[in-house]
Amino acid sequence: MEPIRLDDSGAAGFVSPQKLFSLEDRVEMAHRALHGKTGPGNEYLEWLDWPETMDPQEMARLTAVARHLRESSDALVVIGIGGSYLGARAGAEMLLSPFWNELSGKVRRGPRLYWAGHHMDSRYISALLKQLDGQDVSVVVISKSGTTIEPGLAFRFIHKYMMERYGREKAARRIVAVTDAKKGLLRDLALAEGFERFSIPAGTGGRYSVLTPVGLLPLAIVGVDVQKVLEGARWARKWYGTMGYTRNDTWRYAAIRHLLYRQGIKLEALIHYDPSLRGLGAWFQQLFAESEGKGGKGLFPVSLQYTTDLHSMGQYLQEGERHIMETAVLFDEDRSPLVIPATEPDRDRLNYIAGRTLEEVNQKAAQGTREAHIKGGVPYLAIHVPQATAEYFGALTYFLMKTCALSSYLLGVNPFDQPGVEAYKTHMFRLLNRPES
Ligand code: PA5
Repeated sequence: MEPIRLDDSGAAGFVSPQKLFSLEDRVEMAHRALHGKTGPGNEYLEWLDWPETMDPQEMARLTAVARHLRESSDALVVIGIGGSYLGARAGAEMLLSPFWNELSGKVRRGPRLYWAGHHMDSRYISALLKQLDGQDVSVVVISKSGTTIEPGLAFRFIHKYMMERYGREKAARRIVAVTDAKKGLLRDLALAEGFERFSIPAGTGGRYSVLTPVGLLPLAIVGVDVQKVLEGARWARKWYGTMGYTRNDTWRYAAIRHLLYRQGIKLEALIHYDPSLRGLGAWFQQLFAESEGKGGKGLFPVSLQYTTDLHSMGQYLQEGERHIMETAVLFDEDRSPLVIPATEPDRDRLNYIAGRTLEEVNQKAAQGTREAHIKGGVPYLAIHVPQATAEYFGALTYFLMKTCALSSYLLGVNPFDQPGVEAYKTHMFRLLNRPES
């Protein structure tokens, strides 16, 4: 595979080579702590070798279950929140047609895809249940802890619906739970009802679980070749397991964002020019926010879709407070060459670009934005992904998880806990008078 490359030339005017090179020893220490499992949160490092260590028999079971559900369903509901859904969503958006759910069954080659349990809006659940009527439905419910309220409540409604439609036993054959192997309420429920189960590895936290059944099962059901996803991740594990800035771009990415943070940058905007990367942006936000945002530290990660957001956020990016860096994710390959037609007469005055591809214009927008923003004082990085394929989805998510873990160690925080997330829950449960368990 061609490597995913970090182009850091747009940060050159903001980070001196001396500073960058003087940080290399500390990045090496972070790398050694990660691989030697001596850093904070080291009980949650199973994801690091997972692309190699995932049991092939479990993978074969996963693809068989996925095939069965794909063939027997028009609709798949994936229930989960945070790390228990964003990875699958990122993969589905990157790899499927933007109009997947609208495609006819023959073209789609997999069930329509619906998400639930990622919030508690009742209108959404009511509309979803109506939408499922008349379709053959399968459900994947994902929660590592098995106690998270949002997916727990969504599953209550959807399980009830499934039992009313199919009867308890038949419904159970259409439901798969992905949860902890040994404990948790979802595991107990799945055992009691006889659902098929897949395990989230104990040593992998939610936001590092995209390459486990958490991400792979929903993707396999909608027809993504998940063997290829894992192949790409295996390649990335090897390539980004090497030492030094020269070859390992996760080192350089982690180091540059760290130096910029120390120089007063407070926000990292992950930008892209392709709506199929919206899901990846949301996954990136949770990965970096939950990993780094603690102890009063951390870059605030946001995700922006250009050129859409250039017509809203673009003003701030260009001239607002200078505390932002941008990291672009760019596909090198044009996925769908569309040549701009000439028209006569040229009423919209666009004939000057007729004959060129739409992708070329999008690229010029990216280059123009890069130039303008750097001039405006925004350090700019670009992650070049050769192709938008299943392999590169695996490689890209691995690349970002590795960068995030290194970057968190540079910052001196534990990337694998999220103590702050509990605060809102404590208040909410008090307001709901939840009994002590
Ligand atoms: O990264 C994390 O740990 C979180 O985003 C979790 O994935 C999220 O809170 C969902 O947790 P659970 O899978 O236990 O329902």
